[in-house]
Amino acid sequence: MAAVRRAAVIGTGTMGPGIGAVLARAGVETALHDVSAEALERARSAAELAANVLERLDAAAEEGGSLRFESELAAALEGVDFVIEAVPENLDLKHEVFRRLEELVAADAVLASNTSGIPITSIATVCEHPERVVGMHWSNPPHLIPMIEVIPGEKTSQQTVETATALVRRVGYHPVQEKEVPGFVENRVLYAILRECLDLVDRGIISPEDLDLNVRWGIGYKLAVIGPMELLDMAGLDIYEAVGSYLNRDLSTSAEVSSTVRDLIGKGRLGMKTGGGIYDYTPEQIEELRARRAAKLVAVRRALEG
Ligand SMILES: NC(=O)c1ccc[n+]([C@@H]2O[C@H](COP(=O)([O-])OP(=O)(O)OC[C@H]3O[C@@H](n4cnc5c(N)ncnc54)[C@H](O)[C@@H]3O)[C@@H](O)[C@H]2O)c1
Repeated sequence: MAAVRRAAVIGTGTMGPGIGAVLARAGVETALHDVSAEALERARSAAELAANVLERLDAAAEEGGSLRFESELAAALEGVDFVIEAVPENLDLKHEVFRRLEELVAADAVLASNTSGIPITSIATVCEHPERVVGMHWSNPPHLIPMIEVIPGEKTSQQTVETATALVRRVGYHPVQEKEVPGFVENRVLYAILRECLDLVDRGIISPEDLDLNVRWGIGYKLAVIGPMELLDMAGLDIYEAVGSYLNRDLSTSAEVSSTVRDLIGKGRLGMKTGGGIYDYTPEQIEELRARRAAKLVAVRRALEG
């Protein structure tokens, strides 16, 4: 299996620039492409910011990597052996993109999708070579979170899975191989936590502020060091059985979205992007929060790697 030499990232919104910066630093000649000239222009500064963060992290760097910005898809795909699709989460759009990709890349190039949860098997239905299509789910921000889910579809070859996994290792990240399941594992776990958190807030058991403090300094801090399976062994499986046997049946199993969230959406409060959601934000606070959170994630990652 040859190491990936040239790659392209298709779609440079929230995820593409950080992915590109990580690949370039790991020695891959990388092209970023977007249909929107504005998005491609914004990607230049976003990728530079991400590269600076990688520098601060002292992330392993390999010679030969580079990043270029291409407004033409064919130019972005020239000579590539690996493509990461990061266009919006819409199956029709992904089909359109994968059809075009297959027309323009070599028969053995790997086509990866950064989809958050669309089944890889569905994405690959439009491909002549579904064996080279694989899920490669980066976590946001992609230049900071060093774990990538690798998800084969029904027809994905073992070689494709191995190429994607090797690329994840090469950029210094942890590959996690999973079977196809709606939402993939990371989002299933996250959404299970969010459902219970929102249910507690909906029922007035705890305020949003205290809920955030509870989770950040309780399970959040702990789970960054000790995984859930390790935690079970640490606590004792008998203790889990005793608590789980009465607590599991009291946890939220609601299939509905929380009333707190629905009410806020009804008022046009969608979060930071509208100046407020569960909390209120001024534009200055948003800038400050973003910078402070990125700095903390860098510090925590350095500490955890030690
Ligand atoms: N944002 C996240 O937190 C996150 C995390 C993990 C995975 N993802 C997944 O990654 C993918 C991209 O998400 P995002 O948040 O970066 O989306 P985004 O909307 O921020 O960016 C998508 C970009 O794709 C471009 N685009 C649209 N059609 C295109 C085409 N035909 N060819 C090339 N570019 C095209 C758009 O102009 C836009 O700049 C989605 O599948 C999403 O589910 C997102």
